[in-house]
Amino acid sequence: MSAYADPHPKHLLDFHDWSTERLNAILDNADTMSKVLDRPVKKVPALQGLTVCTVFFENSTRTRISFELAARRMSADVVSFAASSSSLSKGESLRDTIETLTAYKIDAYVVRHSASGAAHAVARFSGKPTINAGDGLRAHPTQALLDAYTIRREYGELKGRRVAIIGDIRHSRVARSNAELLTRLGASVVLCGPATLLPRDLAGEGVTLTTDAKAAVKGADAVMALRLQTERMDAGYLGSLPEYIAGYQVNEALLEDAAPNAIVLHPGPMNRDLEISADTADGPRSRVLKQVEHGQAVRMSVLYHLLVGRG
Ligand code: CP
Repeated sequence: MSAYADPHPKHLLDFHDWSTERLNAILDNADTMSKVLDRPVKKVPALQGLTVCTVFFENSTRTRISFELAARRMSADVVSFAASSSSLSKGESLRDTIETLTAYKIDAYVVRHSASGAAHAVARFSGKPTINAGDGLRAHPTQALLDAYTIRREYGELKGRRVAIIGDIRHSRVARSNAELLTRLGASVVLCGPATLLPRDLAGEGVTLTTDAKAAVKGADAVMALRLQTERMDAGYLGSLPEYIAGYQVNEALLEDAAPNAIVLHPGPMNRDLEISADTADGPRSRVLKQVEHGQAVRMSVLYHLLVGRG
């Protein structure tokens, strides 16, 4: 058992309380869920009688849809709370909103919010199992789990693999969660971007930083491109876009020194021909749509683990 261990974590807010054994169990169980999704009838009764509420204060395509599908595939009822059309616009607080929803006997929450720590607040206000679907710059644990699962499906295990993550590291909760999870699972991670987008405090055991994209990619088994999160930028982080593209775009030329069978990942949404070239996004190394596909199985595994399989 690792130092992180809570034997029965109630929430997935980040990886802090999760033992490495339990994280591996989520990935193992995603294999079973993938097999369910390959059947003609993609449905099991595991969550029958339970209600999952998705509460998104930021836009999403992949995370919200895959969580809602994941819950329905396991026969849960799903209710989707849309912040923009809710009574929040009349001044209702987050606490009153969550307490109101909980009075409808919601069994679990999936939360995305621009504020770091918002999912913790929902967990506290509701007392129900809560999954962080991305909070501010802090964490996006199920994205990291599906990324790890995608690499594991490719190579069998994470141990000894080198993963380069390139782009807007500063504003990326995906980079932070991946750096923690992938190193816990035995991979090494190199985070790469312009100095303005590369916080020095992210370096740590198994995690190195570089501003040199060619050096980051050299020998990498997986190369992940990250979007420039201009919606979170309030200062002049970049010189010019052409300079950024020349230095940090993930494209075929950059990948020349990667491992021969290196795969390319992107958490989405992609800005084609900006952080990733269109031909690389569509090329044989790309596992972008595999990540999307695996997201559903991994989120089924997480929901199952928190709602019925915590023993
Ligand atoms: N990767 C990711 O979180 O995508 P969405 O914003 O579409 O959910």
